[in-house]
Amino acid sequence: MRAAIAAAEVGDEQRREDPTVTELQRRVAELLGQEEAVFLPTATMANQIALKLHSRPGDVLLAEETSHVVIYEYGGPAAHAGLMVQGLRGHAGRLTAEQVRAAVPARTKTADQAPAVLSLEDTHNSAGGRVWPLDELEAVVDAARDGGLRVHLDGARLVNAAVAQSVAPAEIAGRFDTVTICLSKGLGCPLGALLAGSAPLIDRAWREKHLFGGAMRQAGIVAAAGLYALDHHVERLAEDHARARRLATAWHEEGVPVDLDQVETNFVQVDLGPLGLTRDEALARLRDAGVGLSSTIHPTVLRAVTHLDLSDEDVERAVELVAPALGCRSSVRA
Ligand SMILES: Cc1ncc(COP(=O)(O)O)c(C=O)c1O
Repeated sequence: MRAAIAAAEVGDEQRREDPTVTELQRRVAELLGQEEAVFLPTATMANQIALKLHSRPGDVLLAEETSHVVIYEYGGPAAHAGLMVQGLRGHAGRLTAEQVRAAVPARTKTADQAPAVLSLEDTHNSAGGRVWPLDELEAVVDAARDGGLRVHLDGARLVNAAVAQSVAPAEIAGRFDTVTICLSKGLGCPLGALLAGSAPLIDRAWREKHLFGGAMRQAGIVAAAGLYALDHHVERLAEDHARARRLATAWHEEGVPVDLDQVETNFVQVDLGPLGLTRDEALARLRDAGVGLSSTIHPTVLRAVTHLDLSDEDVERAVELVAPALGCRSSVRA
């Protein structure tokens, strides 16, 4: 990837003259089953631009209540688009068609304060990298469209979902009006994200990109990493998923509180509740043992993530170190 970055052909991205950015946008639009895509610095910006495209100030955003757009984007939907957020309680990060239908009231006034856009997340970060079954996704998207809503997919980790389900990313992403994809997560790039959608929407997104201060110059330096990742880092996500499963299964056997059903992609969530440890105590013990886990929005849940910088040996080391560090049952017995 570093070599691809060094060799990148570049131009002025703001003037749409950077050939590497243009090629990345073309490749990502095709990958996602959308007409066009625009290159952006972050997935947060991609989500925020999308929400602005689909709404007017005073409209309502429907989203699962722990989704990234609701809890991690600093109130961006309100700050940028003037949206009111209506968070819906999900299961494994997912909503049902009934929930969406119930959240779209019948029109009562000439100018309603009404939901304009539904945002879904796949894989779902706070739920532990959970994947939407395609039939559920379709039912929810259909319910939203029946209610006159636009639908956005926060697919920061969409490629993980596609690999986990053995489907083309377009099969998931092609159903949405707009889709965010992030390059700096499982795909392993230093930064970058894209927003994809119809040609008229992406045309408007370019204007928003300027308004957000995100239009760039020789951005091909970064886009080259994205092209490299599309060629080399997509199928290998299955290795991250297998390593997460190995970690989860082994930790579970060692008495580390892990719900194996939750492990669908590259996250393993560890519940500290049964261990009687606080988050800070557990993180400090793990750090001392040389293993990095991170906190989540759930006060007693930690997250381990497998990614392209982790080898099988690293995973085996984590298997050895984590149960004793947390004082789990079988390591205590040993
Ligand atoms: C689901 C989801 N969407 C969006 C983002 C934002 O990504 P970025 O850091 O590129 O803004 C994240 C980051 O963790 C995420 O998990």
